[in-house]
Amino acid sequence: MELSVLILAAGKGTRMKSILPKVMQPLAGKPLLAHVLATAKQLQSQRTIVVYGHGGELVQQHFSDESIGWALQAEQKGTGHAVQVALSQLPETGKTLILYGDVPLTTTTTLEKLLALVTDDNSLGLLSVTLDNPTGYGRIVREAGLVQRIVEQKDASEQEKLIAEVNTGILCVPNKHLHTWLPTLKNTNAQGEYYLTDIIALAVADGITVQTHQPTAAWEVEGINDKLQLATLERVYQRLQADNLMRAGATIIDPNRFDVRGTVIIGMDVSFDINVILEGHNQLGNGVHIGANCSLKNCTLGDGVVIKANSVLEGAVIGNHADVGPFARLRAGTQLAANVHIGNFVEVKNTVMHEGAKAGHLSYIGDAEVGARANIGAGTITCNYDGATKSKTMIGADAFIGSNASLVAPVTIGEGATTGAGSAISKDVPAHSLAIGRGIQRNIEGWQRPRKIVSD
Ligand code: UD1
Ligand code: CA
Repeated sequence: MELSVLILAAGKGTRMKSILPKVMQPLAGKPLLAHVLATAKQLQSQRTIVVYGHGGELVQQHFSDESIGWALQAEQKGTGHAVQVALSQLPETGKTLILYGDVPLTTTTTLEKLLALVTDDNSLGLLSVTLDNPTGYGRIVREAGLVQRIVEQKDASEQEKLIAEVNTGILCVPNKHLHTWLPTLKNTNAQGEYYLTDIIALAVADGITVQTHQPTAAWEVEGINDKLQLATLERVYQRLQADNLMRAGATIIDPNRFDVRGTVIIGMDVSFDINVILEGHNQLGNGVHIGANCSLKNCTLGDGVVIKANSVLEGAVIGNHADVGPFARLRAGTQLAANVHIGNFVEVKNTVMHEGAKAGHLSYIGDAEVGARANIGAGTITCNYDGATKSKTMIGADAFIGSNASLVAPVTIGEGATTGAGSAISKDVPAHSLAIGRGIQRNIEGWQRPRKIVSD
């Protein structure tokens, strides 16, 4: 049967105490709704429709690149009403999977099993879960083992409140029935809302078998209403990422202090010390070691690369056996070839460093090309910006830049050239020559330092 996915995301999320709409709250750096949409995408549906309400413009804007049908639910009159506003966008045939925008971690496998329960117009699939504490949820009422209806917490009798099997809210329904049942829903209940859950009793009355499936873990169906639940599911998600990487061979010193906000590909024997954050897409070769408190965003690291503690890397491409840090910052456009060495308090931006080049301490290297084996002394600064434009610094292979140099770009330092310590280099330096650009030292013999006048 052709599949449509309908995501209910109109809730205000008052308990978040936030300007951001609830479904825009980030989990692993990405809005809750993005997680649900990513899962929906794996299901090969014909269309995805999002029911939005509060702050909807922001939500629509954020997902403007995706092909989503939007349905506005201006007033939140219940889950049944939410589906009603999207009804005109659903075809007459096929089936619809209903998901919640604030339930981010449902697995594709679980949803596929639920979908498999609905093979024709005479079936309906419900994702239920049995909880130790079912308080607050709609209870699944069965007779002789067969699902009869769902009763909401606020409408439940004392007897019904004892039922531990609850409605996750996720269900799959033939469109044909959605079109007939939804317009008939009434809001004569404790909350004065149109309950989507009322369709279960309607299905039973129409002789349709309601089948249930349960997820493998309760977190798959946990919704997020406040920042505490957000933090809880963030840790669940992060632990899953860590577990996957450990299964792929990574050593993670403390999986509880390890965060992935995006995707990671690793080789063998990759190891992570504590408090590492990986954002965007990172690719790490064999034997890479990431020290404590490092953050990497969109980086590619070759085999044997070592990133020492407290380094921040973004958009860097690093060759085999290079080492970086501690306390280094690599910014966008940094390309380090094999065996490059970047030491502490070195910032590199939009720069190519060829094989074996070194910048050991306290430098800023921006908009530059550094030749193979060149050595950048401590305190070297590329003066790449004159207040209006950025210019390039070219440093040849085997060049030696003395400590505390200002390389005033545009400037080229030839192969094998040397610059004296403390030089301001504003003119090109020919290959294999020495450039000194500093005041000449004068010694004044017997010079008397000023003295304090002491009275009394
Ligand atoms: C609903 C179910 C309940 C189930 C529980 C699971 C109904 C009547 N009850 O309860 O059986 O155990 O979910 O969490 O369906 N939403 C809208 N528009 C609305 C109302 C809700 O888009 O008018 C969206 C919310 O943004 C949310 C989802 O629907 O993503 C569920 O809404 P919520 O208010 O949390 O559902 P409950 O009434 O708690
Ligand atoms: Ca809820």
